Amino acid sequence: MFRLDERLALCAGFVREGVRLADVGTDHAYLPVWLACSGKIRSAVACDVRVGPLENAKANIQKYHVGNIVSTVLSDGLDSISPDLADDIVLAGMGGELITKIIMRTQWLYNGDKRLILQPMSRSESLRLFLCENGFHIQQEKACISANKSYSVMLCCYDGIKRTCTDIFKYIGLLENDDSFESKRYIYFINEKLKKKLNGFERGSAEYAQLHEIVSKLDTLSKGVSLW
Ligand SMILES: C[S@@+](CC[C@H](N)C(=O)[O-])C[C@H]1O[C@@H](n2cnc3c(N)ncnc32)[C@H](O)[C@@H]1O
Repeated sequence: MFRLDERLALCAGFVREGVRLADVGTDHAYLPVWLACSGKIRSAVACDVRVGPLENAKANIQKYHVGNIVSTVLSDGLDSISPDLADDIVLAGMGGELITKIIMRTQWLYNGDKRLILQPMSRSESLRLFLCENGFHIQQEKACISANKSYSVMLCCYDGIKRTCTDIFKYIGLLENDDSFESKRYIYFINEKLKKKLNGFERGSAEYAQLHEIVSKLDTLSKGVSLW
């Protein structure tokens, strides 16, 4: 058995016991292989849009003798995956806009029995906005630090209720109410990016004022973060 890094371990922690898993954009398939080795899942489809990553996935499935639990599928998003194969669906390590596009076009995800575990590498604000406006409830969100980088992982479920997404929620989601160091550090880095963006706006413009207000709030929420 091998160790998952903190980012994939956080995703693994959100997966329910005994489920059928789909890992979209699996690459090396570490997550489904680890979950199969640990006995947590019933089955898994490790999906990727490219043949090369699926070869890595196959090699790991063979190495850890979990071919009876984990299979590989060449698929663009979930396009080639039947809903019967997945209760919990992980989309990790991809950009927020790509994750949004994949969810948007997969009608069978609009179902309260399915759980989405989402870990965007970028543009997490556009993903949170999409989730709020399209009836996906972010039930839990946690942050972690892996190789000195900060990540957020969300557990979501469709309930059809469209929610207002405030500017603060768009950028940091449920981490606003999380006092952990990992959350504060995530907020700190999101805010650093926003500060750079703020410099591009003309002082006195409406955009500047709006972003300045967000930055001030995030400054307060991440106060006390010492990075090194
Ligand atoms: C950086 S890796 C992430 C691997 C793993 N999920 C993780 O978080 O460590 C991103 C993977 O997503 C795959 N990918 C990109 N676009 C995809 C799509 N539309 N459908 C399925 N997989 C995709 C890439 O081929 C690549 O293997």
